[in-house]
Amino acid sequence: MTIERITSADVADEELALESTVRPRRLDEFAGQDRVKENLGILIDAAQHRSEPVDHVLLYGPPGLGKTTLANIVAAEMGAQIRTTSGPAIERAGDLAAVLTSLGKGDVLFIDEIHRLSHAVEEILYPAMEDFALDVVLGKGPGARTVRLQIEHVTVIGATTRVGAITGPLRDRFGATYRLDYYTDAELERILRRSAEILGVSLTDEAAVLVARRSRGTPRIANRLLKRVRDYAQVRGETEGAVTEASAADALALLEIDERGLDAMDRQLLRAIAEHHGGGPVGLATMAATVSEPIETIEDVVEPYLMQIGLLARTPRGRQLTAGGWEHLGLAPPAGPAAASVQQPGLFDA
Ligand SMILES: Nc1ncnc2c1ncn2[C@@H]1O[C@H](COP(=O)(O)OP(=O)(O)OP(=O)(O)O)[C@@H](O)[C@H]1O
Ligand SMILES: [Mg+2]
Repeated sequence: MTIERITSADVADEELALESTVRPRRLDEFAGQDRVKENLGILIDAAQHRSEPVDHVLLYGPPGLGKTTLANIVAAEMGAQIRTTSGPAIERAGDLAAVLTSLGKGDVLFIDEIHRLSHAVEEILYPAMEDFALDVVLGKGPGARTVRLQIEHVTVIGATTRVGAITGPLRDRFGATYRLDYYTDAELERILRRSAEILGVSLTDEAAVLVARRSRGTPRIANRLLKRVRDYAQVRGETEGAVTEASAADALALLEIDERGLDAMDRQLLRAIAEHHGGGPVGLATMAATVSEPIETIEDVVEPYLMQIGLLARTPRGRQLTAGGWEHLGLAPPAGPAAASVQQPGLFDA
């Protein structure tokens, strides 16, 4: 069993209550992602204007950035019901057909991890999204025939962390596709201040700045760290439970989260690339083995953030430590041409 990382972007079960308490319900409470928000706002307004359901929407991006939240917001803004399911949860084509026929006009069907739908289930989804129809096969053998059943005009919202794993035909059926990006520190500060208010935590501005900067651009992590610094301040703080910059810094140091939001595992990974592989390039499988994590975790969660903050770069031959990466470790990069080429992260970024 692996130990749960405090900086993991995945949601732990006991965290669901926290998430639903602080989750924004309306578009104007949703901080950041301005371009996505503006586009969604237009989509919603236009649909309301025409008294039609919203177009199908595909949301993608790293975990914890607000895909589920936005799906719920679209439904709320439309005054529609939302049904939530996920790719792996829909086992048979009939399961999806049953859900689709139970929905009313304008309702939202939210399919999380949509890249994990089986082929048979996906086939049901195509006509449902395109023509609001279900093609049902009656009978077996030579006498079998297909009948087409109409369903209500519904909105399908799909979410995924791996847009590349979605088949072309499925992707084409979404009228709008939006990518969520990591949040800026200023946006995370706003989210932290709002969450602190909802949770009744007193958080100084300096503490909000400090926690935001260590939240990996991810609201889920920001909210989790807020909870931990609050606990620390209550138990150890001298200022009656108020979270100050000093107590937040102490709490996060105790959790081994450094000033860029990296935890012990991130540093172990970077250090292994530096010390055992001369700074790279190294393959994904090697990186995963170094820290005993699944390759998908490295690819979807760990390395995107390390690349985002410029500590790691993708090259055609693998992942390479950048000058910034060496510096973060407090190590000197090796001299020679390899070191020169890592000065240009992003050159070969896909
Ligand atoms: N823009 C935002 N403003 C305020 N809070 C946010 C925002 N985005 C996300 N959050 C908070 O972060 C938490 C995680 O967001 P959400 O569950 O929507 O992420 P997700 O992208 O669906 O993640 P996953 O890929 O793991 O399903 C939410 O409970 C919410 O409280
Ligand atoms: Mg989600």
